[in-house]
Amino acid sequence: VGKRTSCSVATEPPPAATEKPEMDAPKEIFLKDYRKPDYLFDKVDLQFQLGEEKTIVTTKIVVSPGVEGSISAPLVLHGCDLKLLSIKVNGTELKGEEYTVDSRHLTVSTPPAGVFNLEIVTEIYPQLNTSLEGLYKSTGNFCTQCEAEGFRKITYFQDRPDVMAKYTCRIEADKTLYPVLLSNGNLIEQGDLEDGKHFALWEDPFKKPSYLFALVAGQLGCREDSFVTCSGRNVTLRIWTPAQDLPKTAHAMYSLKAAMQWDEEVFGLEYDLDLFNIVVVPDFNMGAMENKSLNIFQSRLVLASPETATDGDYAAILGVVGHEYFHNWTGNRVTCRDWFQLTLKEGLTVFRDQEFSSDLGCRTVKRIADVSKLRIYQFPQDAGPMAHPIRPHSYIKMDNFYTVTVYEKGAEVVRMYKTMFGASGFRKGMDLYFQRHDGQAVTCEDFYAAMCDANNAQLPHFLQWYSQAGTPTVKVSSSYDPSSQTFSLKFSDGTLQTLASDDKPVFTTVLQFKKKEEEFIFENIPEKPVPSLLRGYSAPVRLDSDLSESDLFFLLANDSDEFNRWEAGQVLARKLMLSLVADFQQQKTLVLNPKFVDGLRSILRNTSLDKEFIAKAITLPGQGEIMDMMAVADPDAVHAVRNFIKKELALQLKDDLLAAVASNRSSEAYMFNHNSMARRALKNTCLAYLASLNEPDVTELALHEYKTATNMTEQFAALLALSQNPGKVRDDALLDFYNQWQNDYLVVSKWFALQATSDIPGNVVNVQKLLSHPAFDMRNPNKVYSLIGGFCGSPVNFHAKDGSGYKFLGEVVLQLDKINPQVASRMVSAFSRWRRYDENRQALAKAQLEMIVSANGLSENVYEIASKSLA
Ligand code: PHE
Ligand code: ZN
Repeated sequence: VGKRTSCSVATEPPPAATEKPEMDAPKEIFLKDYRKPDYLFDKVDLQFQLGEEKTIVTTKIVVSPGVEGSISAPLVLHGCDLKLLSIKVNGTELKGEEYTVDSRHLTVSTPPAGVFNLEIVTEIYPQLNTSLEGLYKSTGNFCTQCEAEGFRKITYFQDRPDVMAKYTCRIEADKTLYPVLLSNGNLIEQGDLEDGKHFALWEDPFKKPSYLFALVAGQLGCREDSFVTCSGRNVTLRIWTPAQDLPKTAHAMYSLKAAMQWDEEVFGLEYDLDLFNIVVVPDFNMGAMENKSLNIFQSRLVLASPETATDGDYAAILGVVGHEYFHNWTGNRVTCRDWFQLTLKEGLTVFRDQEFSSDLGCRTVKRIADVSKLRIYQFPQDAGPMAHPIRPHSYIKMDNFYTVTVYEKGAEVVRMYKTMFGASGFRKGMDLYFQRHDGQAVTCEDFYAAMCDANNAQLPHFLQWYSQAGTPTVKVSSSYDPSSQTFSLKFSDGTLQTLASDDKPVFTTVLQFKKKEEEFIFENIPEKPVPSLLRGYSAPVRLDSDLSESDLFFLLANDSDEFNRWEAGQVLARKLMLSLVADFQQQKTLVLNPKFVDGLRSILRNTSLDKEFIAKAITLPGQGEIMDMMAVADPDAVHAVRNFIKKELALQLKDDLLAAVASNRSSEAYMFNHNSMARRALKNTCLAYLASLNEPDVTELALHEYKTATNMTEQFAALLALSQNPGKVRDDALLDFYNQWQNDYLVVSKWFALQATSDIPGNVVNVQKLLSHPAFDMRNPNKVYSLIGGFCGSPVNFHAKDGSGYKFLGEVVLQLDKINPQVASRMVSAFSRWRRYDENRQALAKAQLEMIVSANGLSENVYEIASKSLA
């Protein structure tokens, strides 16, 4: 294990991240060790003097003894990469022996009893900050990112979410370089200063934890609109971005207003200030951040035009703008006591944004997308070395726990309350939660208690969902006895089910499955029913049912629950793929079950079905899903089988697919609504199938679609279809696309992602080349996620037999770690499931992990993931 770096005491601008001093061993933090803070911060006044070489931060805090803190306790403040200029208590500068500073803390040994004023001045270097955490610069503008523990890179502070204070923020900066100065809350004063500078003073009337603080300074234009809340408050809405991108903010503004309206209608939650700002920055580690009244977004999740953004981008913008807005109540007004409770705000807010998108679009299609995401990303995490409950028990770096488990599985757990209590019971629980906890920092138990109390319910076993990792498997066996006309369902090891039958369900019910084994008997059932289990995916489990193939084909054709109809097709496809994988491994000739082809053909021909539903229903489960079900994952076999089925379907359904492409063209202008998107989804899915045949007529067709496309959704889909097959057509199309869009960095990112995720043979060489493409930039997370993240998501090439994919990632991780540990850590996660593969691959991947763990100057972020993966 090499020496590690994390925070340091800055004495002058740190020359380079690589030369930071060596650090003490990484410390694991445990939920069970939680203690209330010794001191409370009632009021925080910040002043920023933003400069090109250095920024001076003056922090004035009114400190009072914590409820349980002992009077004489030392005051321990967090700090990281800060240069301390001065510290005063009640106006008097502290002497050297009255405080200590180490690489992570500033400790005042004996603070005065009672309330006192603390004043700290620090110097920081945002222009050198490539971690994109704390105060940093992105394309010349200043901005902040404080969640989870970035505020300590701005000033010394009790940087923990249960320390809530009212803030003011005064920003001083050059007026020409930084005409726009923003922070949380209301602008209460602004004016000019000497030397071409100006200032703005912001005041946030709501108490908040430090992680919700934000500041932005720069050259930005804004789109302005307004929203009148249900009680008549007129709220000014502004979306800030470099002026040339303003035309691309219309959809985000539409999304924001829709979210404000929806939260009032569905949850009775109204916005609480007169101003709401969104700022767009190109360099951002995550998707977006819910800072009070000053949300910050990475560009991809705001900027859209029909020509440059796909339907997927438009949908993501709607969801994320909604998500961050919804945090104003679930996260900001009621926040987390400590970071272990992250799912309290994230699981709940993801659930809310899912519901919002469902209500504005198509519920079944949204549910299918969300469940797929859970299966593709969360199930593997929950089955690997990084598995953790939605409320983790411990962490080294909190940044590593912004996971699909905390977010997506957390949302599934919230959804179960709604399934059990119904929409109105769920609403009652939410109302009670806000009534009890507005203005507080609380725990998952508090949410659970509000839900149970509001519904006079007791769910003693339910809290296990918060403390147990892993995806439960529920085994279901059914039996029908014609003589007594009883039907029985036996469940073992699991959770919660629903049952219905046929397209006219006998009935639908919620069965709460609480014990290790449970049997439910249904009487007066005149004939053998086909149960439709876990409707709408009512619990995040793996269902192992004894449904026969013909039951599944019956459900695929008839289930009145559209989600389960899709699911029946997926179960069939998974079984089919697994058995073909076995055939492939035994070098048998592959033959596709004609019943499967017929099942998909009738879905494709069924004009009463939603078009996007059809697109999803004819799409095969991903390679990862299948590998996940194998004792030893075999990427080559799964890839070969999936391609075989794809081509076989394309061949046998060719006429239907051609007809679907032809009848789903449209000359209408781009519209973001479900029907238009469904039409495009179906057309694009069919085109991809056809192009996989790599025959002149279908290639011609795909080229035609590419050339005539009037929006990015169709242009990109055609490009994707064409680039399945290596060769000149592919190369020419990729070059043409780049030439057309080289000045739009978001489209260029898509171009990187398309090539990175490609499963053409030997793709690692191409990806390696793209690293030195002039448009690529290791410091921009979005480009890293597109190119490197994309590559790791493509099983055949990342898991190349010769280890070239692993070697590529190993080298990139170390390079990236010096620039941005959070991003490096996300990339290194691709190694975590190395034990799932054959011995050869295991050895190759393990060698890379060992190389990483032993590297000098490794961040705690990467260390935590890499070392846990090896453990
Ligand atoms: N809290 C953000 C969200 O809405 C995510 C985030 C976490 C952003 C940490 C930045 C840093 O989900
Ligand atoms: Zn969130």
